Amino acid sequence: MAHIFLTGATSGIGKALCLQLLKDGHTVFGTGRSKEKLHALEEEAPGDFHPILMDLASFSSIKDALKTHEKTLSQIEILINNAGATSAKKIITEDGNEMQLQVNHLAVVYLTHWFYPLLKTNQGMVITTSSDAHRRTKFSKKALYDQTPYKIFKRYQETKLYNLMFMYYCDRVFGRDPVRFYAVHPGLVKTDLGAKNASWLVDKVWKLFSAPGQDPEGPVPTYLKLINERPSDYVYYAYERPNHHLPVVEEEEKQTLLMTHACEHLSISTFGVRE
Ligand SMILES: NC(=O)c1ccc[n+]([C@@H]2O[C@H](COP(=O)([O-])OP(=O)(O)OC[C@H]3O[C@@H](n4cnc5c(N)ncnc54)[C@H](OP(=O)(O)O)[C@@H]3O)[C@@H](O)[C@H]2O)c1
Repeated sequence: MAHIFLTGATSGIGKALCLQLLKDGHTVFGTGRSKEKLHALEEEAPGDFHPILMDLASFSSIKDALKTHEKTLSQIEILINNAGATSAKKIITEDGNEMQLQVNHLAVVYLTHWFYPLLKTNQGMVITTSSDAHRRTKFSKKALYDQTPYKIFKRYQETKLYNLMFMYYCDRVFGRDPVRFYAVHPGLVKTDLGAKNASWLVDKVWKLFSAPGQDPEGPVPTYLKLINERPSDYVYYAYERPNHHLPVVEEEEKQTLLMTHACEHLSISTFGVRE
């Protein structure tokens, strides 16, 4: 049984995954930004659950939480970067970043950087929830540096592209031994993802769009397959099978641009090496 760090455990896909992992006997350190939701999850959790309060839109909140729990986190073998957010209006975080960029991408890079030395020792893996929404955008340096007009869905698609490029970058640069890197497209899932920070119109559009989607339990088997089988043939999975991605995902020059931007914003001098 594994020790798993799972972000966004308080609702949607993350909550369904958290409950299943606990039922299967894993130890789960699940993060949330709401004390109340974490407490409710703790009450419902069927096994060895450790709630961690962490706002991914705040680097000081992430760093404080990691410091507080540093000792107990030393056994982590699997990092699941699942949390994600959208916002109808452009929100600038206390760290000066556009919120979707920070929560969906920069926080993922930071957590992976922080956990990498442990995952190496524990021969672990990283799974990041991306999306086929990445297919509806292009990689652009201007967008990465937030120099294009803010559009909710465009921004979301870009951050999901960054998730995928980041996992492929890690797979290429770190190799597959001993840490494995995966990305998951969960498919369309009926959650409140697009209804949070939403305008009336975005809320309606999201509800109509996601209505035919699966229940949050739907994508769970894909994560379980990666955890249980540790497949060595591919990085991006959907519906328990390898999934297609845009060619740009594997372009080394663009991956390097992405990582240079992230390391600048996170003050990381060597990615994967904690100072
Ligand atoms: N639903 C879909 O159709 C779909 C399709 C493709 C990919 N995805 C991806 O699947 C992942 C999970 O999304 P979901 O659909 O399950 O949505 P969800 O129900 O809204 O879950 C998102 C999770 O992220 C957490 N979160 C959001 N902002 C946060 C912050 N600032 N700090 C800490 N945690 C934060 C949420 O916390 P709260 O509970 O406090 O809100 C929640 O636990 C996301 O990465 C999303 O991009 C979803």
